[in-house]
Amino acid sequence: MSLASVHITGIGGYLPERIMTNAELEKLVDTTDAWIRERTGIEQRHIIAPDQMTSDLAVEAARIALADAGITIDDIDALIVATTTPDLIFPSTATVVQSKLGGRDFPAWDIQAVCSGFVYGLAQAEGMMRAGMFRRVLLIGAEAMSRIVDWKDRGTCILFGDGAGAVVLEAGPSDAENGMIGSVLHADGAFRDLLKAHHPHPPSSPELHHEAVDFAIDSAGAAAVEMKGNEVFRVAVTKLGDVVREILLRYELNDCDIDWLVPHQANIRIIQATAKKLKMDLDRVALTVARHGNTSSASVPLALNDLYINGRLEKGQLILLEAFAGGFAWGANLVRWSK
Ligand code: COA
Repeated sequence: MSLASVHITGIGGYLPERIMTNAELEKLVDTTDAWIRERTGIEQRHIIAPDQMTSDLAVEAARIALADAGITIDDIDALIVATTTPDLIFPSTATVVQSKLGGRDFPAWDIQAVCSGFVYGLAQAEGMMRAGMFRRVLLIGAEAMSRIVDWKDRGTCILFGDGAGAVVLEAGPSDAENGMIGSVLHADGAFRDLLKAHHPHPPSSPELHHEAVDFAIDSAGAAAVEMKGNEVFRVAVTKLGDVVREILLRYELNDCDIDWLVPHQANIRIIQATAKKLKMDLDRVALTVARHGNTSSASVPLALNDLYINGRLEKGQLILLEAFAGGFAWGANLVRWSK
């Protein structure tokens, strides 16, 4: 089969039980609930349990997505995990998830595009499926951002949360009416220092260089997100406005054709700016930022799942997904809902 259509046939989301409110953050850093709500729209975020890792969140979301599609892990041909907080440097979190789900002998790999990981993953899976490589792909965005946040930095720690979202993608006939329409991806590494997670000794750090294997330092120490918030904000608003225009133009659609905007949930003001550029009312926009904060690569599938479980998606509706991330890496996908 070549140039098949690609459909989301199962979807699931998982948020860890523990909820952290803005009031709790007031006790940690010099901030207020009012400031966080006004500047970001965030009211609370979920925090991973002490004994959980990213793969555990991914497994929970994946189980729901598989059940929703009416299939098991044995029916899957490929598994992709988008994450910026992997369980280990290697093996990939995708192989950990595969094993925890009881799957064997199909390709599994991670992709790293930070908050755009799911949008990148959807584009990658779609391309491979249209080319006939896979019939059923499990794509997961999963993050434990609380583990890499600097809890002393009020400019960043208020923004992030943990969670996972998963979709099952299935190939269908090439003349199907609905399904994935296409994607647009971008990255510009010139901006890489504006938003990053710093580790004192990253895996390829020159400090870890082994002089004839006689020198290696202890690489213990915490990673931490660093961000120039208002510069990120400015570029995000511009690039997201551009990419939604670009994808509509590429696939010959208009903003009035869109039924749902499913944006990356970083900041309500960034979402409002993109919706305004598309002339869309906020009641046609998936909004979870208040409840979840920024869950990085889990944010877009969790927002899509939120629409789904609340019965708001109808077959044939046109959905525009978009995300912006450290790198910077950003992109958008267009999907006609087929469930
Ligand atoms: N509580 C109270 N005050 C805070 C604060 C907090 N949590 N964080 C920052 N401030 C202060 C700053 O110190 C600054 O004070 P100053 O004027 O005395 O120096 C003031 O608020 C304004 O800071 P600024 O950074 O300009 O605020 P902002 O309106 O840009 O909002 C962000 C900050 C981080 C919420 C906003 O820039 C943002 O959301 N950026 C994009 C982040 C993002 O989307 N990242 C992920 C992309 S995937």
